Amino acid sequence: MKRLLVLSLMIVLPSCASMMNSHRMKAAQRKMLDTRKLQQAGQWDEALAMAERMHASVSKSITSAPAQKTAGGAEVDLRPLLAGWTNGSFAELKTALQKKDARHSTHAFASLRQQCINCHTVLGKTQVQVSEIP
Ligand code: HEC
Repeated sequence: MKRLLVLSLMIVLPSCASMMNSHRMKAAQRKMLDTRKLQQAGQWDEALAMAERMHASVSKSITSAPAQKTAGGAEVDLRPLLAGWTNGSFAELKTALQKKDARHSTHAFASLRQQCINCHTVLGKTQVQVSEIP
């Protein structure tokens, strides 16, 4: 009985973590679009706060399951990719929002979205659709 419980937990828990992460990634996507909306409306401070919330969603998703398998079966540690995203296009977006720079923001959103896609590509998750930045 106990063994059965352990066994079923072993089956349920990983898929549970994956569901949480799928949920967090979808939330990140929503927050990315919300950040853009706020930025375009000229609500710079709110946009910056929303950008931080987007970052938290991506970051929690990755740090809760940093070791992932690529489609080819190789193990990858996603933390360096997360750090690259944080220090690269995300930092660029934050700077643009802090400076209330619309032109630079548009550019930063495009490279941010591309860096989201890069991580999925590394994993071979080519089925993941990341929304276009309006
Ligand atoms: C460092 C790697 C990494 C970065 C950066 C990243 N993702 Fe993901 N993304 C993943 C992984 C891993 C999954 C699969 C999660 C799961 O289902 O377990 C995923 C899944 C998704 C999904 C599919 C969710 C579903 O189940 O329908 C969407 C949408 C998504 N990501 C959007 C984004 C957006 C938007 C960004 C940037 C703001 C982003 N991702 C940045 C690794 C990343």
